[in-house]
Amino acid sequence: MSSGNGTTGWRAYWEGDASVYVNTRHKIAHYQHLADDLLRVAAGLGRPLGRIDMLDFGCGEALSADRIAARIHHLTLSDTSQRVQDGLARRFGDRKDVSILDAEAVAALPDAAFDLIVVNSVLQYVSPDAATELIRSLARLVKPDGRMLVGDVLPPELGALTDVRELLAFAVRERFLVAALAGLVRTAASDYSRLRARVGLTRYSVVAFKRLARSADLVAEPLQRNIGHNPHRLAFLLSRANGDRDAPP
Ligand SMILES: C[S@@+](CC[C@H](N)C(=O)[O-])C[C@H]1O[C@@H](n2cnc3c(N)ncnc32)[C@H](O)[C@@H]1O
Repeated sequence: MSSGNGTTGWRAYWEGDASVYVNTRHKIAHYQHLADDLLRVAAGLGRPLGRIDMLDFGCGEALSADRIAARIHHLTLSDTSQRVQDGLARRFGDRKDVSILDAEAVAALPDAAFDLIVVNSVLQYVSPDAATELIRSLARLVKPDGRMLVGDVLPPELGALTDVRELLAFAVRERFLVAALAGLVRTAASDYSRLRARVGLTRYSVVAFKRLARSADLVAEPLQRNIGHNPHRLAFLLSRANGDRDAPP
C-alpha cells in the first residue's frame, strides 16, 4: 500500500482543511475522553503524574492538552501538519507547560526525553515502511523505564460499518446524534472517503504490530481496551526490550 504521504495522499489531506468530526461537540467530546484515557495510562506508569514528561506525536488539534498539561510535568505536542501546528500555537503557545515542536525539532531532542510518548490514530495514515521508521525514531526518545502508547490501530478485519456503529453509539452518549447522521451523509461524499478508497488505511493484526515494535527494539503489549471511543480498534503499550520495565518510580 502506498504511504499516502505524497502531495495527493494522507499528508496532503491533513495539511488541508481536514475534519473527521461531525461538529464541535463531537470534537470536544473526543479530545476530553482522550485526555481522560491518556491521564489514566500515565497514572498507571508507577510514578507521580507530576513528574511525567509526555510527547503527543500526531496530536491533531489536542483540544484538551491544557487539562493534561495541568496534571503532568510537561507536555510536548507535535504534528506534521503546518495547519495543525499553527492552531496549536494559537491555542497553547503562551503556556510554559506545553511545547509545540515540528518533526525536525522532535528529531533533534536528546535521547530518553519522555516518560510517555503517545501516537494515537496516526499509524493508519502512514505506510508500513514509514511506520517502522517513525516508531524507531520515537523509540530512542523513551526513557529506559518509559512507555510508548500507540492507540486507535486498525485491525485487518475492522470494517467501515463497525466504525459507523461506534460513532453513532458515541453520538448517543454525547448527544450529537442528529449531527452524526448528517455527518455520515457528508462523509460518504468527502475527500476522506475518496482517499480511504484510493490510498487505503494501514492495518495491523496484534502479531504484525508486535513485529513492528520489535523492529524498533520495543516490546508491545496489547491493552485490554483501546483509548478513545472505538473499542474495536487496538491499543498497545510499548516498552524497551532491554529497558528496566519493572523499575520503581
Ligand atoms: C486522526 S488525527 C489524530 C489526532 C490525535 N492524535 C487524536 O487522537 O485525536 C491524525 C493526525 O496525525 C497527523 N499525522 C499524520 N501522519 C503523521 C506523521 N507521519 N507524523 C506526525 N503526524 C502525522 C495528522 O496531521 C493528524 O493531525
